[in-house]
Amino acid sequence: MKIYLAPMEGLLDHFLRKILTEMGGYDLCVSEFIRINQHLLSDSSILQVVPELKNKSRTSSGIPVKVQILGSDPVCMAENADKIAKLGAYGIDLNFGCPAPTVNRNRGGAILLKEPDLLFQIVQSVRKAVPKEIPVTSKMRLGYESKDLAIESALALEAGGLEEVVVHARTKVDGYKPPAYWEWIAKIKAHLRIPVIANGEIWDVESANRCKIVSGCENIMIGRGAISNPNLANQIRANDSKRLDWNQVVSLLQNFVEDMESNSKHVHSSGRVKQWLKYLAREYPEAKHGFELSKKITKSFQILENLKGMNLSELVG
Ligand SMILES: Cc1cc2nc3c(=O)[nH]c(=O)nc-3n(C[C@H](O)[C@H](O)[C@H](O)COP(=O)(O)O)c2cc1C
Repeated sequence: MKIYLAPMEGLLDHFLRKILTEMGGYDLCVSEFIRINQHLLSDSSILQVVPELKNKSRTSSGIPVKVQILGSDPVCMAENADKIAKLGAYGIDLNFGCPAPTVNRNRGGAILLKEPDLLFQIVQSVRKAVPKEIPVTSKMRLGYESKDLAIESALALEAGGLEEVVVHARTKVDGYKPPAYWEWIAKIKAHLRIPVIANGEIWDVESANRCKIVSGCENIMIGRGAISNPNLANQIRANDSKRLDWNQVVSLLQNFVEDMESNSKHVHSSGRVKQWLKYLAREYPEAKHGFELSKKITKSFQILENLKGMNLSELVG
């Protein structure tokens, strides 16, 4: 079984990739999307999103990171993919799933699932531009409003020369609302020769096992579940729901803050800690309480102090 860490723009950046891959259990990461327009991206704008490129496209714990790009012009996508490949990317991933209205209005992300011919052209053009040894892969949803073109879209990606596809088992209009239609991943998989990776609504060992059975996929990708439960990939591998205790989670938060503050002038570390606490609250009552306490605090070290002092029995009692 392979477990991939999902791309999550505005949330799962290189700081969190480092922490989560150090925990272990992940085979591969995909970066947040980089938007492609008419221009060639500068090295610095690419490296800002994926600094792992300076480390052979790997996190500090050695896990490969593919670079995801988003756009609709086959020529611009190809030129930028080539540039990213020359910076040493482990792979190029194409975003055909983003549901954001501004992205879709500019003909990017999930809206392209209405145009299988264009999907084919983009993949073909990128595949031709990028050296053979660098995989070109993609992440797709089941469609925009309906699932009618799901199989046709996936076949177009394969025909264009894609190596592998991750299927997030929802349409754009489904957003992030449960359920994920894992049975549709199985339908797509039945039509493809390339590997298919299942994604959507994997939050624990039980949902991971069910997703694998329903989708027929051995390999999975995890997004929000990985942020809510930093030990999830290891739990799934061991088929054991033993989670980190709260003090271990606080240590991760502390490492996260130290890393951000020593490596970036531009990150508001307190905002990022609160953002992570919101996701952790799904698993940890301490995080829920910590988030409430932190709302008006702007200094990360103060938030961390509150979290360290937290005693679950007081919260319950
Ligand atoms: C905040 C956020 C940002 C996301 N950014 C991206 C992105 O940049 N590229 C992408 O392909 N998917 C993106 N996604 C979708 C996730 O990769 C994933 O497909 C989705 O969350 C479903 O998986 P999950 O139920 O395991 O979270 C994003 C999702 C969220 C919640």
